[in-house]
Amino acid sequence: MTNGEPELAAEQRRHRQETYAAHPGMYGVEPSAPARHAVAAFRAADARRVLELGAGHGRDALAFTRAGFSVHATDFSATGLDQLRRAAQEQGLDGQITTALHDVRAPLPLPDDSVDAVFAHMLLCMALSTRQLRDVLAEVRRVLRPGGAFVYTVRHTGDAHYGAGVAAVR
Ligand SMILES: C[S@@+](CC[C@H](N)C(=O)[O-])C[C@H]1O[C@@H](n2cnc3c(N)ncnc32)[C@H](O)[C@@H]1O
Repeated sequence: MTNGEPELAAEQRRHRQETYAAHPGMYGVEPSAPARHAVAAFRAADARRVLELGAGHGRDALAFTRAGFSVHATDFSATGLDQLRRAAQEQGLDGQITTALHDVRAPLPLPDDSVDAVFAHMLLCMALSTRQLRDVLAEVRRVLRPGGAFVYTVRHTGDAHYGAGVAAVR
């Protein structure tokens, strides 16, 4: 990382921890629209094992589990993952879902070709430099088996908030 990036990463993680603690289940219990799309894409790819990056408190990871996939959900917020595990237990889904505390700035602790599908909603637009984004994508490529599916969302110039933010990393 270059100067300032470790502090930015630590600040981001702190912010997430505080936000999830102050607003448990903040994204609600319904799956996102991209997750509904992903269920169809993952079925078309004959997927069974799904990796979610930046899963937060798990609204989409739980939906994937309910749809019959085996899910490995990761995030760098322990608080978000605690909420995810609690919800999985309450819904009787904890047998089909595993979680891992992981910062996507580090390599994924998974073997090559070990998952059939990867999902990342509102993660690649977090505070990641272009270099870090390239590294994340290379890691996704490495762990995804040939013919697998990767569904992700990114910000674009049509977004309501386009141009309203302050650039922090490049
Ligand atoms: C906008 S939230 C979206 C959460 C979830 N995907 C959803 O849609 O409900 C972004 C998530 O990415 C996680 N995140 C941000 N930067 C991360 C990083 N470097 N490594 C792992 N997770 C990260 C945050 O903790 C947060 O849970």
